[in-house]
Amino acid sequence: MKHIKTVLFSTAFMICINALFACSNGTDNTLNVSTSVPSNDITDSTRLTNKSELLTTTVKIENGQKQFKQLGCSGCHNTDSTKLVGPGLAGIGDRGDEYIRNSIINPSAEIVDGYLNLMPSSFASLDDSDLDALVAYLRTLN
Ligand code: HEC
Repeated sequence: MKHIKTVLFSTAFMICINALFACSNGTDNTLNVSTSVPSNDITDSTRLTNKSELLTTTVKIENGQKQFKQLGCSGCHNTDSTKLVGPGLAGIGDRGDEYIRNSIINPSAEIVDGYLNLMPSSFASLDDSDLDALVAYLRTLN
């Protein structure tokens, strides 16, 4: 009698263990979880890209503003539309990036009406990233 009870008990035990394994082996749950992860990843990385682009532009503009002072541009140019030694630079963005770039690296190629050829030509040696930063900053002036 005692022996039969033990056999019954261990059989019941095995059935329970099997039931447990059957549950944890179910593939449906795992699939649901893993399909939702990649779509979240895509939205997150898109947001990250936009954020880092915004950050890059912000850093560039701030660098340009710093250069504008350090290189002495601000000694000759106001950032509103008032005249100093050179013209005020507000609204210069309307002329396009190429025009701004050329005005900096080759100022005597085109002399703004009513001004003298006083802008130094030494800015031609600025490296590309500083030039880019200056252009990005000048475009924000209005
Ligand atoms: C010594 C004075 C002086 C300095 C320093 C100077 N500029 Fe000029 N800039 C001028 C004068 C004068 C003109 C107008 C004559 C001409 O077109 O060259 C001018 C013209 C310009 C123009 C064209 C403006 C227009 O209305 O078309 C831009 C853009 C410009 N400067 C940007 C800069 C930047 C950026 C710096 C610094 C890296 C700088 N300048 C430094 C005197 C200066």
